[in-house]
Amino acid sequence: MEDLKRRIEKYLSQPDNIDRARVERVLRDYDSNEDDWALYALRPLIETGSVRCNLNKAKLTIIEFHCRSYTRTMLMDRPEFNLLVLVWPPKSSSPIHDHSNAKCFVKILSGSLTEIRYADDGIEKTSVAALPVNGVSFIEDAMGLHEMRNESEDKFAVSLHVYCPKFKSCNVFKDGVKQKAEMKVWKNY
Ligand SMILES: [Fe+2]
Repeated sequence: MEDLKRRIEKYLSQPDNIDRARVERVLRDYDSNEDDWALYALRPLIETGSVRCNLNKAKLTIIEFHCRSYTRTMLMDRPEFNLLVLVWPPKSSSPIHDHSNAKCFVKILSGSLTEIRYADDGIEKTSVAALPVNGVSFIEDAMGLHEMRNESEDKFAVSLHVYCPKFKSCNVFKDGVKQKAEMKVWKNY
């Protein structure tokens, strides 16, 4: 993970000149390893009592959870970009949203997410894709809006998100109605 962070920093230090293919390759090259990210990802949930975990041979197993919505935890917060890890309880989903003129890279670390893309009106679906572990996806506002869902009945999903440049709020869409929403982020661990 440290190597991944270093490479992301290297390729995202100039937001006006991002080589999308190169960043996607860096994310693809990283083979997800739970030991790298499990504690960062789950700490907010453990601290709030939202999950109970079994830590056995450095392998975290969730044995109970009381949360329905996803959490974001900041791993890197730089002037040019940020890197977050998101934890998705079973059957959780994001709203349909845009990305505040930023580039958004997603890498699946555990489980699987379904990405549903929409036209700018937030109503017309343009694509549906299942993203498996180690899958990488990219979106920016010129490509429309999206929504992410963990459709599993019983498995958590974990994803890594790079936003360049970083942003604090975006637009969310419900039944075609646009609304500004602040991004809630847990502290930097
Ligand atoms: Fe997004």
